[in-house]
Amino acid sequence: MVASEHDDTDGAPERSNRFTRGRDPWLAHLGNLRNVVRQEMVSRQLARHLPAAPARVLDVGAGQGTQALRLVAAGHEVTAVEPDHAMRDVFTTDAARLRPTERARVSLQASDLATLSTEARPATHDVVLCHGVLMYLPESRAAVAELARRVAPGGILSIVTRNGDALAWRPALRHEWSAALALLEEVDQSRTEDRAALYRNEIGVDARADTLGSLTDDCEAAGLELTAWYGIRVATDDVALDEPPPDAAHLATLLDVEERLGSTDPYRALGTLVHVIASRPGGSVSPADG
Ligand SMILES: C[S@@+](CC[C@H](N)C(=O)[O-])C[C@H]1O[C@@H](n2cnc3c(N)ncnc32)[C@H](O)[C@@H]1O
Repeated sequence: MVASEHDDTDGAPERSNRFTRGRDPWLAHLGNLRNVVRQEMVSRQLARHLPAAPARVLDVGAGQGTQALRLVAAGHEVTAVEPDHAMRDVFTTDAARLRPTERARVSLQASDLATLSTEARPATHDVVLCHGVLMYLPESRAAVAELARRVAPGGILSIVTRNGDALAWRPALRHEWSAALALLEEVDQSRTEDRAALYRNEIGVDARADTLGSLTDDCEAAGLELTAWYGIRVATDDVALDEPPPDAAHLATLLDVEERLGSTDPYRALGTLVHVIASRPGGSVSPADG
């Protein structure tokens, strides 16, 4: 693995990272049911659109590296960008378990989206990932444009973020009626004011929700076409943060159900997270099984 050439642990990217407040509870619960479902759905949904290995992948806000390292193990070449030093530490520890030939295909940079945007002529990639990051940024239009600049002709952009169309679904599933009503009212208000809906997430961070419509508009404004979209955690979001996964047999069935729900109407619209795949027209990059 290529060491970061600008490891600015105390630098500007980390100081301005809204996620940092929720980082410790995030890292403490990577093995919980919610994250297991999330990561597995992202992997399965993404797999439908990946080009044949080795594709050039950029993962912006790679965090602990779950998807980045899975893609490396699948034969792809991954550049991961992550501003938080503790997240990079977990990434690096897990990357050390890769075989040497795999480690040679991953690099981790201590940087963030704003720093990337200073590059006049960025390298392009077949696949650009931005998972669980947009909700911590002040807005999405410029961020999506910045990500899109890195998508090669024929390549794809994969965005996972909080689904503002279903913001009240989790508290409603939990029968937390006052919280559900407050979020329904926030969604109404945000539509009236033509802004993103705001919420506090499960790891205690005030964040911002996009919608399928806003993300589609953002992608199209950046020259990308919506290829597919999925819901993530349609029926498993009523559990507590520390709920562990069930035994292997039950988990396997649960994941198959979530996969079907997340790609089927009307269920997919209720996913806590929305996963958008957008592509840049042209070029020769095509899905591996296409
Ligand atoms: C919820 S974690 C998601 C990690 C990983 N992408 C995943 O889906 O498992 C959000 C990550 O986004 C990173 N992040 C926050 N602001 C960022 C920015 N402006 N540019 C790049 N990454 C950012 C955080 O440091 C954190 O690691």
